[in-house]
Amino acid sequence: MPQVIIDGQSFEFEPGDLLLQFCLDRGIEIPHFCYHPALSVPANCRQCLVKAGLPARDRATGELVKDENGNPVVNYFPKLQTSCSLELSDGMAVHTQYDEELVAQAQADNLELMLINHPLDCPICDQAGECPLQIQAYKYGPEGSRFEFEKVHKPKRVQLGPNVILDAERCINCTRCTRFTTEVSKSHQLSIIGRGDTNYPMTAPGQVFDDPYSMNVCDLCPVGALTEDYFRFKARVWEMSSTPSVSDFGGKGINVDYWVRDNHILRITPRENLAVNEYWMPDAARLIYERYNENRPKGPTVGGNTSDWEAAYDEAANLLKSANGKVVFLGSAFATVEDNYLLVKLAAAVGADAPQYISRIQAGSGDDWLISDDPAPNTQGCERLGMSPADPVLLKAKLAGGDIEVLYVLEDDPIAAGVLSADDISGIKVILHHYHTTNETLAHADVALPAAMCVETVGTYVNEAGRAQRLRPAKMIRSMNRSLMMEAGVGQSRTDRHGTPFDRWFNEDHQIDCQPGWESLPAIAERLGSPMTYKNPAAIMAEIAESIPAFGGATHKAMDLLGVALEEVGEAV
Ligand code: SF4
Ligand code: FES
Repeated sequence: MPQVIIDGQSFEFEPGDLLLQFCLDRGIEIPHFCYHPALSVPANCRQCLVKAGLPARDRATGELVKDENGNPVVNYFPKLQTSCSLELSDGMAVHTQYDEELVAQAQADNLELMLINHPLDCPICDQAGECPLQIQAYKYGPEGSRFEFEKVHKPKRVQLGPNVILDAERCINCTRCTRFTTEVSKSHQLSIIGRGDTNYPMTAPGQVFDDPYSMNVCDLCPVGALTEDYFRFKARVWEMSSTPSVSDFGGKGINVDYWVRDNHILRITPRENLAVNEYWMPDAARLIYERYNENRPKGPTVGGNTSDWEAAYDEAANLLKSANGKVVFLGSAFATVEDNYLLVKLAAAVGADAPQYISRIQAGSGDDWLISDDPAPNTQGCERLGMSPADPVLLKAKLAGGDIEVLYVLEDDPIAAGVLSADDISGIKVILHHYHTTNETLAHADVALPAAMCVETVGTYVNEAGRAQRLRPAKMIRSMNRSLMMEAGVGQSRTDRHGTPFDRWFNEDHQIDCQPGWESLPAIAERLGSPMTYKNPAAIMAEIAESIPAFGGATHKAMDLLGVALEEVGEAV
C-alpha cells in the first residue's frame, strides 16, 4: 500500500484519502474551520495549513533521489498547503504544527487575522465552551491582539427564520452554513452576500430561512454566528450534562445527545451515526424537548386519587386477578422493546390474549429523509415481538361484547389516538401507564401509573429500517435505582455530578415521580404470583435476543452507541 510520512511517522493510506480527514481519523489534531466530512471542500478558512512535499525522482530513471544517509530527498511545495484539500500520494512527507515552527506560526497568524474583526464577546456568547474558534485560538492562536482599530460592524441579532438567529459580526465566512443548504438540505436558502471583510450569510431579500432542517447550521457554525432561537441564553454549555441516546421523534431512530441542567432537558442535538442520520436532525425533533419537562404526573393515582406506588400496584394486581383473563392489553410503539416484552409475559400470566399496539403510521406524512411517516419510535420493535396493530373496529366490538372487564394500556393514549372513545371504556376498569397529565385516557383510569419517558429509562427501540438502538437515561427520576445509575450519562446529571440540592437552580420537582415499565410490570406480576426476575433491562434484552430470532444479536452490549442492524445480525445467527 502507498505510504505517507506525517511528522516523521509512516502511515499506509488508501488512494484518494485527504490529508486532514486522514489525520483526524488517527487522532492527529490539525486546527480547521471550513472542512466538514459531509460537505464539499472549499479550503477557504486557510486554518489547516501544513508543510508538505513529494519525494524527488531522477528525471531520467524515475528512481527516488536519496541523500548521503540514504533517505529520500523531499521536494517541498513552495507554499504551505491546506490539508483539508490535499490528496495523499505515495511517499508524501507532511509536517504539521507539532514539528514545524513555520506551520505553527502560519496557523497562529491565520487565527490572528480571523480575530481582527471577530468580536471578543465570549463571555456573553452562547457558543462559548463549545466554540471551535475559541478552542483553537486558545490552543494555536497568538497571545493577545495587536489590532488597535475599530472592528468592522455588521448586522447583529438577525432573525433569519423561525429557529435561527444570525450575529454577522461573529461570522468567519467558512461557508459551512451555505453549503449545508445547497448540498445537504437543498433548500438553497442561504448564500454569502457582500465582499471582503463585510460579507456574511443571508437569505434572498424577503425570504425566510424556514428550511425544516435549518438548525443544523447552528451545529455546523464553528463560531457563535448562528444560534438556535429556542436555546439562546438558556444555559452555558459547561452547566449541562449531555447523554448520547436515541430520539423518540418518529421511526427513523435519530441518534441524539440530550442536554440537561437541573434535570430538565434544555437542548437536543444530533449525534453522528452514519447508518441512521449521519450528522443531522430536523428542527421538529429538537423542538419537542419540552415534552420531557412539562405536564408530567406527580405520582400514581388510584380511582383518581393520589396513591403510593405499593397501593397502586396492589390495586392493579387485584383488578387483573378478579378479571380472570378478561383483559385487553395494549402495548405501545412509544415504549421500549423490553417493556413491551414484559407486557406480553404479563398478558400470558393472566390468561389474556397477546397484546396489540396502536399504529400511528400515516402514509405520506414524512419527507423521505429524517421525518418518518411514523411518529412513534418503536413500531418495528412491537412487530418483531409478534404484536399486531389494533383494529379500532374490532377492538371496540370486543369491548362492547360485555366479556372484557379490564383494559390495560402501556404508555399510550387510545382516546387521543382515536382508537377508542370514552363511551367504549365506560363500565370497564382501566389500568394506564402514562407520560403526561394531558393523556386523554387518564380521566378514565382506575389505576394510573406514571411511566418513565425515553430520556429517563434504559431500553431498546427498533427503527423503521430494523436497527435496534439503545436508550440511555439522560435525567433522573424520583425513584432512581441502581440499574439507572449504572448507565452512562445519568451519573453526570447536573444535580449529581456538579450540583447540590443547595444550588439555586436545583428544583426537586424536576425529578418526576414515575417508574420505568421494567420496574412497574414486574411489581404487578409478582403480586399475581408470576415473578419476573431480571437483574436489569440488559438482562431482559439478552433473553429477547436469545429467544426471538427477529432480535438475534441485539444485546445492549452489541448495540452500544451505534445500534445493531437486526436483519444482518439475524442472518449471521
Ligand atoms: S455563519 Fe457560521 S457557518 Fe455560516 S459562514 Fe459564518 S462562520 Fe461559517
Ligand atoms: S479547513 Fe482547510 S482551509 Fe478550512
